[in-house]
Amino acid sequence: MPPDSTAAPAPVRVLSGIQPTGRFHWGNYFGAIRQYIDLQAAGESFYFIADLHALTTVREPARLRALVRDAALDLVALGLDPEQAALFVQSDVPEVTELTWLLMTVTPMGLLERCHAYKDKKSRGIAADAGLFTYPVLMSADILAYDATVVPVGEDQVQHIEVCRDLAGTFNHLYGEVFTLPKPRLVDSGARVPGTDGQKMSKSYDNTLDVFEDLPAQKKKIMRITTDSRPLEDPKDPADDQLFALYSLVAPEPERQAMAALYQRGGFGYGEVKKALVTAAADYFSAARSRRAALAADAGRIEAILEAGAARARQKAGAVLARARQACGLSRGYGSGRQA
Ligand code: TYM
Repeated sequence: MPPDSTAAPAPVRVLSGIQPTGRFHWGNYFGAIRQYIDLQAAGESFYFIADLHALTTVREPARLRALVRDAALDLVALGLDPEQAALFVQSDVPEVTELTWLLMTVTPMGLLERCHAYKDKKSRGIAADAGLFTYPVLMSADILAYDATVVPVGEDQVQHIEVCRDLAGTFNHLYGEVFTLPKPRLVDSGARVPGTDGQKMSKSYDNTLDVFEDLPAQKKKIMRITTDSRPLEDPKDPADDQLFALYSLVAPEPERQAMAALYQRGGFGYGEVKKALVTAAADYFSAARSRRAALAADAGRIEAILEAGAARARQKAGAVLARARQACGLSRGYGSGRQA
């Protein structure tokens, strides 16, 4: 049955995806993963590791497999509870790729040409393939396949969710109310986490602090952060300093306030802030670090979690795909018999 907009308020269904293209950085954690964990009890929730999206950049099969496993370990260690949320790998739900094709047939080229992920890569001279170009359509299918209502993400993904809403709207207009329109969910404190150079934190800019980074390596990165050259005694506005922004993410609230007061008073060196940041970061992620080590030692656990997650995900995606196939005139019973 299509979702009924006149009935009682729709249930909250949360979905988000994350690419396994390297170890997670603070932008991923404070922008997205922390929200996944906060929302996992809010309703039905689905979180996946976007290996199909990662194929547009990771071309070594063994590395991709290792990255997917690392991503799953990281997510569970950080607090994602597989009993509450379905945690799975994107490519384990083939229904989504079929749905991508259905959406592709209602996707204007101009819409994709305006998407910033594609535009940015192209402007940096990275050769674009059709996978990169049509990436937002796959992302739309990811979201629509689960009737997601809420998509927790960082600011950089909001445009893609707008594309998803556009495509769902067009499909619904043509074929009836098939898809549920999702909304992005952002958190003020982490919507755009700055990197060590003040730009958006991103692997492509080589400015990340990673969640499970080796601590001495992380310390080196932090101590090398470039700061301005204002005299020691000058009061400074904490609001426009990326070092303070990073410190705010990991420091306990009273220490954050004390640091803000120190900025406003002046008479301190950035070296002190960096040292405080090193310590606060190590403390903040220390419990997750221990959990990760324990999980990594338990050989079959992650595979079992991902398998169970995929089964739950396929059940939902199969039903939505059947609905979409039927609506656009494809179905001869194939879609409805496809649930895992
Ligand atoms: P990805 O893997 O680049 O990033 C995962 C999540 O981390 C957030 N993020 C940030 N948030 C704040 N500040 C930053 N500096 C920062 N860097 C990254 C991202 O906004 C994202 O929420 N296309 C998606 C993956 C995806 C997806 C989906 C997401 C595929 N299908 C369906 C939601 C729904 C991506 O590449 O995210």
